[in-house]
Amino acid sequence: MIYFDNAATTFPKPTAVRDAVLDCIENWCGNPGRGAHTLSLKAADRVYTCREKLALFVGLSDPTRIVFTGGATAALNIAIKGTLRAGDHVLCSELEHNAVWRPLQALRREGRITVDTFPVVGLSKEKILQEVAKRVKKSTRAIVCTQMSNICSVTLPIAEIGAFCRAKGLFFIVDAAQSAGHLPIDMEAMCIDALALPAHKGLYGIPGCGALALGKRLLPKPLLEGGSGVNSRAAQMPDELPERLEAGTLPLPAIAGLLGGLSFLESIDPCALQSHENGLFLAARERIEGLPQYEVIARDAVGPVLLFRHTRASAVAVARKLSENGIAVRAGLHCAPLAHQALRTGTEGGVRLSFSYRNSETELDTLLRILHEI
Ligand code: ALA
Repeated sequence: MIYFDNAATTFPKPTAVRDAVLDCIENWCGNPGRGAHTLSLKAADRVYTCREKLALFVGLSDPTRIVFTGGATAALNIAIKGTLRAGDHVLCSELEHNAVWRPLQALRREGRITVDTFPVVGLSKEKILQEVAKRVKKSTRAIVCTQMSNICSVTLPIAEIGAFCRAKGLFFIVDAAQSAGHLPIDMEAMCIDALALPAHKGLYGIPGCGALALGKRLLPKPLLEGGSGVNSRAAQMPDELPERLEAGTLPLPAIAGLLGGLSFLESIDPCALQSHENGLFLAARERIEGLPQYEVIARDAVGPVLLFRHTRASAVAVARKLSENGIAVRAGLHCAPLAHQALRTGTEGGVRLSFSYRNSETELDTLLRILHEI
């Protein structure tokens, strides 16, 4: 199979990830913080190592502010629902995935918050900031946005929006589901208060865990309550992080996979990875645009994700034909109808190619042959 669906989940995983998951299951899968025996202590030690590595990766000085969650969606739900209060106004971008859009809309439907979107597509950094500033009201409490769209490689000026939020006293919540592992992240320099990360995409872990990284200014309310391994007599969740937001047993094999993925990323040059993915984007763009029936959407945003459409065949039909020929892509709206609307892809959406370090230009030859046949 030629796998161009790495934005959904990276595949195949590096050997270091498989080895780390197996090592966990076989050697240290005790319950951390729930016992004084060797297995529990070993697990606690590995989990803390993962917090340390991830904190370093996202530019956070305190590893205890890395909260493990079921995934980026869970992390965003905690950040959004655990932070916003009745009467708040929130801004998000027009490129948000449903993992941001739906929790915001759920709070809006309950009458608790109001939400406005700001435009991004085709705008300069300065213009985006002006659009953000125009929409801020007295009641605005937070800006929530993605660092990179999941349907194309358009990125947002996170450092600039972060500085704006800090100056205005707003919380800044960032969805790094697509950017982590592809773009640099420095929470402290970028003034990010909450960052949501999945383990299984650009960090090369397995599905089942993600993280919410929290800056010093934000302490969300827990969405889940239960055992935390500390202060069992108390009838409420502790104030301390990470226990406050980690009720129940942690997904240890997935945390092990994340540890393996982070070790793998440490072993490669991030600039080389970025230039490999950008090279594939540019080669694919040139060749797809050379075919008369195809259009590349957001063509100037070069990165790991490329969206295109056929002028007559539906996106789903193109993806089906590719799949019949052993090529995996994702077609349709990609859980991001708002972003598709902003990019005017129409009701059918588009066909998405998403690259990893494993993809090659030779694989593009096969892709282009099938697209040509279509
Ligand atoms: N959010 C993932 C995607 O964009 C699943 O495909």
